[in-house]
Amino acid sequence: MHILLLGSGGREHAFVWKLRQSPLCEKLFVAPGNAGTALLAENVDINPNDAAAVAAFVKANNIQLVISGPEEPLVRGLADQLKADPELQDLLFFGPGAMGAQLEGSKDFSKRFMARHGIPTAAYQTFSLDSLADGLAYLDAHSLPIVLKADGLAAGKGVVICTNREEAKAEFRAMIEELKFGEASAKVVVEQFLAGIELSVFAITDGKDYLLLPEAKDYKRIGEGDSGLNTGGMGAISPVPFADAAFMQKIDERIVKPTIAGLATEGIPYTGVVFFGLIRVGDEPFVIEYNARMGDPETEVVFPRLKSDLLEHIIAACESRLAGQQVETDARTACTVMLVSGGYPGDYAKGKAISGLDKVSETLVFHAGTKAEAGQVLTNGGRVLALTSYGSSHAEALLQSYAVAKQLHFEGMYYRRDIGFDF
Ligand code: AMP
Ligand code: GLY
Repeated sequence: MHILLLGSGGREHAFVWKLRQSPLCEKLFVAPGNAGTALLAENVDINPNDAAAVAAFVKANNIQLVISGPEEPLVRGLADQLKADPELQDLLFFGPGAMGAQLEGSKDFSKRFMARHGIPTAAYQTFSLDSLADGLAYLDAHSLPIVLKADGLAAGKGVVICTNREEAKAEFRAMIEELKFGEASAKVVVEQFLAGIELSVFAITDGKDYLLLPEAKDYKRIGEGDSGLNTGGMGAISPVPFADAAFMQKIDERIVKPTIAGLATEGIPYTGVVFFGLIRVGDEPFVIEYNARMGDPETEVVFPRLKSDLLEHIIAACESRLAGQQVETDARTACTVMLVSGGYPGDYAKGKAISGLDKVSETLVFHAGTKAEAGQVLTNGGRVLALTSYGSSHAEALLQSYAVAKQLHFEGMYYRRDIGFDF
């Protein structure tokens, strides 16, 4: 099969690494990819959000399957656009159309969807410019802290947690009146704060059946002990110690099943991944958010723990025959530690030479933000490399990733030394 994968991060390098192990994978292109994906596939210089360029490449290269790593092409309706092309009627596309991608693309949509299907989530109300005064009154009566969420996509920055009402009101106004996150914050979801521990659960679905992948936990804050600013993710572990069989059963029954069934009964076609961002409060799971794609850096531990053929699962999902598939999981633990550029998640420099890559053997080095230039690998993003190791315990896997981190270097390199600290 000829495959085009969209994206350029550590998640995409993990996709490439896993897809390459499948006997069904003949040719693999990545748009635009990075220095890591170039080792296992052919990078092509196409912007995943440029639907016309994607369609032209698909036609010129007999691509049979397109997989979207990131959410933006999905929310913009790439799947629908390609499927509407008379020349692409046989193309398989892994990722939902614009309607299904609203689970991630609109917080208000996803909250209303959960309410309709009785899926446990934080209490909320949505406001916009028309209802600004009601919103301010709602904030006055709200318990603290208050969670404010831009309705639309905001590159992971659209959630603000406020510890007092004045701050919440100022933030609320900035989001709606000044469009702090652009059009994404023209509507704002005001949500009850849930205190607990988070985990990420992933289902591959064809819109009626689904396969659960190994669960993971990511570490979002830049600083040790979960302090400082939110990032795309500084590390991840799988399995998640508190997610035992009984807890996973609750998640499946109360959240995953009703979500997939809800999509089906509402006539929302969905082929791809539903990513459940969950929180455990007491012993009960709640949905914090849905995403329409795999997580990053969760993918860098989830795929290494997937023994069965990912490509087989993906093709089966695209052909609506997921019911016959079964996920096989590696019993080992996988942990990843993200090496990031100094200054991230604020401003940071790019183009720094990375040394030591040739010394690494056991650990999987997934490139997140790199590019190859004149025989050198250079930094090309905030998150640069994800170091994934296996172990019989989290400690063993992490020890190995930290040993490898010491062998690698680029100017300004930073990483959290406490991934998995809470277990
Ligand atoms: P998101 O960008 O939607 O992934 O949200 C970013 C982070 O904000 C989440 O990973 C949570 O840590 C936190 N968060 C979002 N909603 C809530 C909530 N209702 N209660 C507590 N924390 C939340
Ligand atoms: N690691 C969280 C995400 O991918 O959204």
